[in-house]
Amino acid sequence: MTAVALGVPSVRGLPQGAPAHGPLVDTFGRVATDLRVSLTDLCNLRCTYCMPAEGLDWLPSDQKLSVDELVRLLRLAVTRLGVTSVRFTGGEPLVVPHLEQVIAATAALRPRPEITLTTNGVGLAGRAAALQQAGLDRINVSLDTVDPQRFAAITRRDRLDAVLAGLQAAKAAGLAPVKVNAVLDPVSGRDDAVALLRFCLAQGYQLRIIEQMPLDAGHSWRREDALTADEILAALRREFVLTAHPGPRGSAPAELWQVRDSDGALLGDVGVIASVSHAFCASCDRTRLTADGQVRNCLFARDETDLRDLLRSGADDDAVEAAWRAAMWSKAAGHGINDPGFVQPDRPMSAIGG
Ligand code: 5AD
Ligand code: SF4
Repeated sequence: MTAVALGVPSVRGLPQGAPAHGPLVDTFGRVATDLRVSLTDLCNLRCTYCMPAEGLDWLPSDQKLSVDELVRLLRLAVTRLGVTSVRFTGGEPLVVPHLEQVIAATAALRPRPEITLTTNGVGLAGRAAALQQAGLDRINVSLDTVDPQRFAAITRRDRLDAVLAGLQAAKAAGLAPVKVNAVLDPVSGRDDAVALLRFCLAQGYQLRIIEQMPLDAGHSWRREDALTADEILAALRREFVLTAHPGPRGSAPAELWQVRDSDGALLGDVGVIASVSHAFCASCDRTRLTADGQVRNCLFARDETDLRDLLRSGADDDAVEAAWRAAMWSKAAGHGINDPGFVQPDRPMSAIGG
């Protein structure tokens, strides 16, 4: 199998160091235009595949970026590094009181980036309209099952109704198309996937099912347990007819399928994100910023670059820009989950940002 078939870029460019200007590039020629910002590591759910029941050692407030520091980095990313889309994540970004303020400040940047949010949906019902008014363009709501008991078992909280109300409010606020992100339970996931797809098709939400990745705080992910994209598709095909979506995929991680009933009537589409079984690292266009101001060039990076420390030591924009460019320059070819020597990153997903 070639490197390309493994989803790993094959051509390494020649320059010695990161370019000082132009797009945010790595040595494989990939250009990062999509910035993922984790606003907090805190969360009001306790998904079993993410964190333990008792929570984690949360970041102390003084280690997190202030609004001013964050907005300075966002401005730099958009005006100097060529970032064209910003996604706010967590932990759970809705637990951050200044979320609307950060979104409004991002929407005021020129050229205005696309602004999106990944949330668990708890508390969204009361804020969707304000978020949209602040400048939010689109939203992804995490929902792994529509069964109340299984929802409570997976998230360790009885909040399904709040999430469903949040989804409705997002749709009503015009945050379309509302996307639903699902990570499936190894045991009930096949049934959950079918019920989720029925629900999303009926409500007009776009379902995206994500293969579970080794990013849990407990390091208990086991390849043999996690459902693969092929297994997920097989489960859906017991109830629906799926055909490859004709549209171009670009750098989007989801492989899209058109969904039909047994009479051939088109019902909508579904995406499957095969992060593990069919890695898409070769077309990755992401750069990441954690709540404590560390740039990560990959979810699975072993190294981080401390921009918070630079900001607080009085560095000027040129120095911060150079540090961010150098961080991206050292991006690895791929996440390496399928390599024998793979080592899971120290930070869990909740502290990196999905
Ligand atoms: N693997 C894949 N996706 C995950 N998420 C959280 N942990 C994992 C994991 N280990 C998802 C959440 C949410 C997004 C931020 O990332 O369900 O949709
Ligand atoms: Fe919270 Fe998301 Fe982790 Fe669930 S997966 S506990 S919603 S951060």
